[in-house]
Amino acid sequence: MTARFNLRDSFNLIKNIKTTGTITPSSKGLIEQLLSPIDFQSARCIVELGPGNGCVTHALLERMHQDCVLVCLELNNEFATQLNLHVDSRLHVYNACASSIRDILDELNIPEVDHVVSSLPLALIADEMVASILASVDANLRDGGTFLQYQYSLANYRDMKPFFRDVKLRFTLRNMPPAFVYECTK
Ligand SMILES: C[S@@+](CC[C@H](N)C(=O)[O-])C[C@H]1O[C@@H](n2cnc3c(N)ncnc32)[C@H](O)[C@@H]1O
Repeated sequence: MTARFNLRDSFNLIKNIKTTGTITPSSKGLIEQLLSPIDFQSARCIVELGPGNGCVTHALLERMHQDCVLVCLELNNEFATQLNLHVDSRLHVYNACASSIRDILDELNIPEVDHVVSSLPLALIADEMVASILASVDANLRDGGTFLQYQYSLANYRDMKPFFRDVKLRFTLRNMPPAFVYECTK
């Protein structure tokens, strides 16, 4: 299944600009770069934060092993409802804040995760909430696991450093607007 970019998605993104931080879904080029550090043969649990219309979600499902689980946390009820229409036993969608990773993983009996992929608009989220989300990502990633995040500015670069052993930064022009891509390793 492919994610279709339609007017309803864009309308929903614009209507909720304060929590989405964008007016168009991520491009294929950005998604490719964001997911490139993941070894899909070995990954068995991936968490996605802020899936929105599901463009990253669908790219993950296309690449994921049959035994891998994808847990999505999306604040926007309409996006979560839309994503829940997609039938795939590997996919678990929650209409929840990204800071509640541990509660959701407990519900699913998952002790730790291999990768966290995030499209959260960190620059628009309050500093304390960003710190709480990053702490929760760090606490639930396995050793050597990665936190993959894109951002349109470097506003939160310094916030990542205290939580991860290694923070790599790349840049892509293959998106509108161009984006920075963080690869943070625990
Ligand atoms: C930039 S959109 C990303 C949509 C899509 N993943 C993409 O890359 O095009 C950011 C998404 O994060 C969601 N979001 C914002 N704050 C959140 C939070 N605290 N917890 C979970 N989702 C959140 C928004 O509702 C929105 O769907």
